[in-house]
Amino acid sequence: MGHKGFRQGEATQVSDKRVLLIVGGGIAAYKALELTRLLRKAGVAVRPVLTRAGAEFVTPLSLGGLAGDKVYQDLFDLTDEAEMGHIQLSRSADLVAVVPATADLIAKAANGLAGDLASTILLATDKPVLMAPAMNVRMWQHPAVQRNVAQLKADGLQMVGPDEGSMACGEFGPGRLAEPEVIFAAIMTALAGPAARPLAGKRALVTAGPTFEPIDPVRGITNRSSGRQGFAIAEALAGLGAEVTLVAGPVFLPTPPGVTRIDVETARQMLAASQAALPADVGVFVAAVADWRVDEAFGTKLKKEKGGPPALTFVENPDILAAVSATGPARPRLVVGFAAETNDVEAHARAKLSRKGCDWIIANDVTEPGVMGGDENSVLLVTRQGTERWDRAPKDEVARAIALRIAEALA
Ligand code: C5P
Repeated sequence: MGHKGFRQGEATQVSDKRVLLIVGGGIAAYKALELTRLLRKAGVAVRPVLTRAGAEFVTPLSLGGLAGDKVYQDLFDLTDEAEMGHIQLSRSADLVAVVPATADLIAKAANGLAGDLASTILLATDKPVLMAPAMNVRMWQHPAVQRNVAQLKADGLQMVGPDEGSMACGEFGPGRLAEPEVIFAAIMTALAGPAARPLAGKRALVTAGPTFEPIDPVRGITNRSSGRQGFAIAEALAGLGAEVTLVAGPVFLPTPPGVTRIDVETARQMLAASQAALPADVGVFVAAVADWRVDEAFGTKLKKEKGGPPALTFVENPDILAAVSATGPARPRLVVGFAAETNDVEAHARAKLSRKGCDWIIANDVTEPGVMGGDENSVLLVTRQGTERWDRAPKDEVARAIALRIAEALA
C-alpha cells in the first residue's frame, strides 16, 4: 500500500501476550474452546482455568489440548500451588478473560468472594479483566445479576455481550454468549492497549445503507446500496475505541461488535435518529439516502384494477449530511460526507464539500469496475486543505484508513 493511511497492523502486535482464560459452567462453555483456538492461532498464549461447573461441560483434556498448557482447576491442589500459587497465576497473564461468565461467577466477583480458584484469581489479579456473560434470559434480567454487572463495570471490568437470540433452554432474549470471534476481537483490542484505542471516549455517528420510501403499505422506492462501506467504517471506528451509533437503512448485515445500531427505513427517520445521536465528535454519512419520496404514501395497497398506473408526486427528502453540518453547538467537530461520482470526481466532490457544509468528502468513481456493490473501493479524500488519492483497497481496509485519519484529526 502506497498511502500512509494504510499503516495498520503495527498497532496490534500482540503475539507475545498471555491470557488467563477462566471457563465457567454453562452450555456455552464449548465456545471457549473455539476462542482458545482463535487466540492460539493469533500467537496469544492461553493458560486455562476450569471451574468445577465448567468441567461438567468441557473436559480438561479438550481445553488443555487446545491451549497447549496445563489446566488449573483447584484452589487447594498442592501440586499446582507448589508449581504456581494462585496469586502468581492471577498475575501471570496480561489479561484475565471469563468465558462464559456465569451468574455465580459474576456474583462472586462483584462481591469479592474467594471460595474457589476462579473467584480467588479474580480477586487477586491486578490485570484487566474481560467477562463474556452467558445465562438464561430471566437470570440475566434479574435485578441481582444486573446489580452485580453494574458493580463490575463500575470496578472497571469490561463486559462483552451477552447477545440476544434463542437459547439452549428454549427461551429467547439477551443471555447468549457473544460469538467467539467477537470475544476474540475484544481481547485483541484490550491486549493492544490504549495506543490502539485513540478514539476512546469519543462519540461517532455513522449512517449507512439505502433508505426505503414507501409508496403504499407493501411497495416503496429504494436503491442498491449494500451498506458495507458504512458498516465497515462503524466497525473500524469502534475498533479504535469510539462509542459508535450506526443509523442503518434496510440492509442484510450483522451489527459490528461494540456498535449501537438503530434501524430505520425512511430518510426522515434517518434524520431523526441521527439528530438524536448527537452530540458526537465525528459524523460519517455513508448512507445512500433517497433524494425524493412519494408526497403522500397511500394508506392501503394500490390495486391494479382501479384504472391505470397511479400518478405519483414526489417531494424532496431532507439532506441529513447538510442538516447535521448546520447544527449549531451540537455539530460534530468533524463531519464527513461521501460522494459517488461518474466524472470529474474531484471537482464535483469539492463543490459538494461547500454545498453541504461538511469538512471532508470521500469520493469515489463508481464507473470503476467492482466498486459499486463490490469488495473494493478506490477513493479521493477531499478536505479544505487539499486532495489525496488513495490506492484501491478492500472496503474494510479503506474503512480502517478512514478511521485512523479521523483519529488523527480529532487528536
Ligand atoms: O448529494 P449527494 O446524495 O450526492 O450527497 C452524498 C452525501 O450526502 C453522502 O454523504 C450522503 O450520505 C449524504 N446525504 C444525506 N442525506 C441526503 C442525501 C445525501 O445525508 N438526503
